Amino acid sequence: MSRYWSAVVSKLTPYVPGEQPKLPNLVKLNTNENPYGPSPRVQEVLLAESGDSLRLYPDPNADRLKEAIATYYGVTPGQVFVGNGSDEVLAHVFLGLLKHEKPVLFPDITYSFYPVYCGLYDVAYETVPLTEAFEIRSGDYARPNGGIIFPNPNAPTGRALSLAAIEQMLVANPDSVVVVDEAYVDFGGETAIPLVAKYPNLLVVQTLSKSRSLAGLRVGFAVGHPDLIEALERVKNSFNSYPLDRLAIAGAVAAMEDREHFDQTRQAVMKSREALVRDLAALGFEVLPSAANFIFARHPRRDAGELAAALRSRSIIVRHFRLPRIEQFLRITVGTDAQCRALTDALREILG
Ligand SMILES: Cc1ncc(COP(=O)(O)O)c(C=O)c1O
Repeated sequence: MSRYWSAVVSKLTPYVPGEQPKLPNLVKLNTNENPYGPSPRVQEVLLAESGDSLRLYPDPNADRLKEAIATYYGVTPGQVFVGNGSDEVLAHVFLGLLKHEKPVLFPDITYSFYPVYCGLYDVAYETVPLTEAFEIRSGDYARPNGGIIFPNPNAPTGRALSLAAIEQMLVANPDSVVVVDEAYVDFGGETAIPLVAKYPNLLVVQTLSKSRSLAGLRVGFAVGHPDLIEALERVKNSFNSYPLDRLAIAGAVAAMEDREHFDQTRQAVMKSREALVRDLAALGFEVLPSAANFIFARHPRRDAGELAAALRSRSIIVRHFRLPRIEQFLRITVGTDAQCRALTDALREILG
């Protein structure tokens, strides 16, 4: 606290990202990164882009990237917004589309950045409890609201919601924007982007950090009706004209275009996830059904905090949230088969 701080800053409770330890030889299963590298085409274009042209500002509208995303999803570039990671896109969404008199609704167990944006931008919110089975029930969102946002699949549970359930929410809330945060959708969920044509109140947010293995490049995007996109552009152009640098634009275009690498790597992650779920179940864990590149699991007889600490002492890090309802769960990123084996071998030893 300092007397130089503004009142807003004094009241903030900032988001705490999963740690990025500097230690070598870690089995790092705590921040849902992709265990495989990005498309080899990305490195080629980054090299080509890192010469003389860096003198010049990048395209403030990142048109090439909007076109690549629009082509991939069969929408128009005018339906696409891009930002510096989907976290930045989400920040603009809270300010530009979800800040109204009525509260924005999101699940009680969800991406913990949402309440942080509400604090930053003074957005009223209410949380809606997940069911006992940690599922989003769309009917629970049929109440007065200034907008709705949830990840699909949800984080940190990994549970996916059907498009039919999302459509019910869109129909029940024609006066609110419904934001579907699809950070993990490519690992087994179903994207709501095809519904954008039908529902002007739907905004779908995605990232290249997970399924396209570009967490280090910081690229995210949103797809929705041009009116929703314009709101985001207005916020962006009042904040930072160049959120994506030249390297990010070039690398993201290459990643969107390499469909083969994308499919191969996400299939590999999904295959490893199925094996990991089986192995953890055999060790006595209860594992929630996951459509993401992580699983959420608890052991009926062992404390999650102690398990996380015991894994850490063996150089394996997973995420443990000390939060109501989920404090006995561990969120474990799906790594390579070798990393998953290191995890299950260590757990077998710890459980004795
Ligand atoms: C649900 C969800 N949304 C958005 C993000 C942000 O991703 P990025 O800013 O890397 O695009 C994350 C990151 O972990 C996430 O879990």
